[in-house]
Amino acid sequence: MFFTELNNLQCKSYLIADLDAGKAAIIDPIYTNIDRYLGMLAYHKLTLDFVADTHTHADHRSACTAIKRLTGCNVLMHKLSPQPNVDDHYTDGDMLSVGAIKIKVLHTPGHTPDSVSFYVNEDRVLTGDVILIQGTGRADFAGGDAGDQYDAITSKLFTLPEETLVFPAHDYRGNTQSTIGAEKETNPRIAGKTRDEYIEIMDNLNLPLPERIQEVLQINQSEIDDDRIKFPLLAELNKVLQMEPELVKSRIDQAGADTVMFDVRELHEFNGELGHIKNSRLIPVADIPNQLESLEVFKDKEIILICRSGVRSTTAAAILKGLGFSNVNNMKDGMLKWNELGYPVERS
Ligand SMILES: [Fe+2]
Repeated sequence: MFFTELNNLQCKSYLIADLDAGKAAIIDPIYTNIDRYLGMLAYHKLTLDFVADTHTHADHRSACTAIKRLTGCNVLMHKLSPQPNVDDHYTDGDMLSVGAIKIKVLHTPGHTPDSVSFYVNEDRVLTGDVILIQGTGRADFAGGDAGDQYDAITSKLFTLPEETLVFPAHDYRGNTQSTIGAEKETNPRIAGKTRDEYIEIMDNLNLPLPERIQEVLQINQSEIDDDRIKFPLLAELNKVLQMEPELVKSRIDQAGADTVMFDVRELHEFNGELGHIKNSRLIPVADIPNQLESLEVFKDKEIILICRSGVRSTTAAAILKGLGFSNVNNMKDGMLKWNELGYPVERS
């Protein structure tokens, strides 16, 4: 196996390659380094099987979609990822391969709901921002949960063999790798801590938000890269009314309900695996600026926004609220939850 970190920055991207098979994968590629990655692949005569992010990043723009457009490789993400341009969603325990190299997906939420770690070749683990070298990733972004993070680290990562090498998505002190054994013993955030103690520590970090969080999340979550749409502030996103799918269902079932549903995913998702709700209207988030005139008639109606996981639609709801729509709601947890509840869907 040929394995290397590619950026030499605080923000880490990893190349996993089988040189004999000429196959590679890049984990957590960053947008500003695409040329470097393509040069590296060409030099070693490698083709990309896939690119993947360990989670939806809030501090830098992901290069996954751009690399897919340039090379035709697949983009893989966890099934809770809000991203529209994902070819395959993985979940806990799935096995991926790069040539003869085997990679096991461990769902390790807490930093974000879609955080995973990749257990590569049974000798190293790429931990994203779940556990860092002598630290852990913050758990205070939307969907973060310190308790989940503690459980993921202690029950999944710390049960790997002690000599397993640890490669995180960030390091701010110049470290490049650690081991599970070392982190278990000396990581100041979590070594020897109870779940409650860990939550207490994480709740009191009081970290400032990353500088470019709004513009980065806009693209990483929704692929919106359009000057006409101003990404809502976090405070505005937090104010969006969240409606449980059960309530959405009962609203629809009420005879004569005057509710309108806007599904803000892409067409391939609308008619894809998860399907869509009968009578919902497809308006991809990125298309909202083009449709403002035709949406005007709905300004005072009850509107329910729908997407895959409830993240993109929360953004769309906040955008519509900002444009003066008076009764805007988001369907919490999106079509993933709707399907999980066994509610009916249509696919064309
Ligand atoms: Fe992160």
